[in-house]
Amino acid sequence: MARFEGLTVLVSGATGGFGSASARQFAAGGANLVLTDFDAGKLEDFAKDIDAETATLAGDIADENTSRDLVRLAVERFGGIDIALNNAGIAQDFVRLGETDMAEARRIIDIDVMGVVYAMRHQLPLMEHQFRASGRRGAIVNIASVAGIAGAPQLAVYSAAKHAVVGLTRSAAAEYARRGIRVNAVCPSFARTEMALAAFHGVQDQAAAEADMTRGVPMRRLAEVGEIVEVILFAADPNNSFMTGQALAADGGITAT
Ligand SMILES: NC(=O)c1ccc[n+]([C@@H]2O[C@H](COP(=O)([O-])OP(=O)(O)OC[C@H]3O[C@@H](n4cnc5c(N)ncnc54)[C@H](O)[C@@H]3O)[C@@H](O)[C@H]2O)c1
Repeated sequence: MARFEGLTVLVSGATGGFGSASARQFAAGGANLVLTDFDAGKLEDFAKDIDAETATLAGDIADENTSRDLVRLAVERFGGIDIALNNAGIAQDFVRLGETDMAEARRIIDIDVMGVVYAMRHQLPLMEHQFRASGRRGAIVNIASVAGIAGAPQLAVYSAAKHAVVGLTRSAAAEYARRGIRVNAVCPSFARTEMALAAFHGVQDQAAAEADMTRGVPMRRLAEVGEIVEVILFAADPNNSFMTGQALAADGGITAT
């Protein structure tokens, strides 16, 4: 049987780097997909291009109604949710805390922290209900960052937001461990998605900029998207049934030193 056969997987940030690549892998593993992102047109185009049963809902993850409506949609369309990948997020400009723009700081907290709070606030009761009713187990994978495990100079608010995601993950994991739900976080270092590559826009010497960005990475390189997706799939896999509350670093060795 395929790895995710017949399971329903909710993916936020579904048209972005990690989201779209993960959604394709879940689809290849036999899952039905509930997909969400900001841009309705992009979302529809992506859903049409993917070989799976899909339901889509465009919206802002910083609005609680989006998460409430996504859970309703999943129940109506597929009868529930087995796996939720809470992946939508934004980065911040590289700037010291003393120069941080407060509107940007609030937006990061709204999306990267409250987006995950709202998502789990609606996913957990559904998954708990499913478990009580039929023993159906749930898994939540939150995308944090290596900046959620250690400080990140010039990314202080982003780092604080991702630390919050790790805290939410660990707390929810403990709360729901006996309620059939595993909750884990994946913590990548800089990876080759639009989020990280945006830092190179307009830069002449891309190789030098990339070398500079990865100076602190023992492997001295960016992560490829597929390398992070492997960790996401591992955390989500129903056979990985005893692992919960973990912040899984996929960081080329950063946290090893
Ligand atoms: N790429 C990296 O280097 C890196 C490293 C560590 C962690 N992360 C995290 O990985 C996750 C995915 O990022 P990515 O690298 O794939 O970037 P990305 O920019 O390619 O994808 C992010 C997606 O989230 C969506 N999104 C952003 N804000 C939203 C909102 N308010 N409502 C709905 N959708 C929203 C975007 O539209 C986009 O499609 C993020 O949480 C990010 O913080 C990325």
